[in-house]
Amino acid sequence: MQLLDGKTLATKIKERIKIEVDALKESGQKVPHLAAVLVGDDPASQAYVRNKVRSCDEVGFESTLIKKDDAISEAELLDIVRDLNEDPYVDGFIVQLPLPDHIDAEKVNLAINPKKDVDGFHPMNFGRMTLGLPSYLPATPQGILFMLKEYGIETSGKKCVVIGRSNIVGMPVSILLSQKRKTGNCTVTIVHSRTQKIEEEIRKADIIVAAIGKAHYVTADMVKKGAVIVDVGINKVDDPSRKRGYRLVGDVDFDDVADKVSWITPVPGGVGPMTVTSLIMNTLIAAKGEIYG
Ligand code: GUN
Repeated sequence: MQLLDGKTLATKIKERIKIEVDALKESGQKVPHLAAVLVGDDPASQAYVRNKVRSCDEVGFESTLIKKDDAISEAELLDIVRDLNEDPYVDGFIVQLPLPDHIDAEKVNLAINPKKDVDGFHPMNFGRMTLGLPSYLPATPQGILFMLKEYGIETSGKKCVVIGRSNIVGMPVSILLSQKRKTGNCTVTIVHSRTQKIEEEIRKADIIVAAIGKAHYVTADMVKKGAVIVDVGINKVDDPSRKRGYRLVGDVDFDDVADKVSWITPVPGGVGPMTVTSLIMNTLIAAKGEIYG
């Protein structure tokens, strides 16, 4: 078994981006600027946004964090989005999900200017991605593609099973891996809560992308020998031996499948760091106007 080490790869990519940003600074040009809107005090969302801001610092980007209480109204949040759309100093921004129930996340998503939608969630970007046109690719799927490419994993003609059909990961990664592109040309099956004989489907896969959000869901008996595993899950499980009382585990039972697979992403240190780095890459693309000018 070999590790798909997202942490090391993410560091390498950020170093390359920093060199580019340093050159911009030296020539007196504006550095890329990412803004993040965080509503409420969900610890996981706070941690994700903290990582995004820290990565901006690491590469020399400017960043703005807008934190709001979860009592914020939908209208107030939409005003913030409109202000960010119009702010000439902000190249791209994200509204961290999930949002409180009283806010229509779809309405907020639609209000974001596609030019600044570095999450790639707006229908304009999602549609362009689906049609194979230039667009911001959603961060996690893009990070996965990058990792497969960098580690030389052959995808063409392979059978890929994606577990989970979310708009953020499962659905877009299925589309991208099935497309005629360098890291693509897979035969993709999406499995989900209504799939019959789900384990049988997963066992056929050369590449498994697990994005279901259930700790240790994938076990050795579900995995074909030599399969490549991309584990998107970040689940908290109780662990009294740890000071904080829990540890983070993936959707895949790493220890159980380790001897059976050819490549696997660790959790943490696999997909997570690549997701944040993808967002940084998209912000650089936004600052350069590479997609929409
Ligand atoms: N919540 C979980 N993943 C993401 C993401 O990639 N972007 C945003 N905005 N919210 C998220």
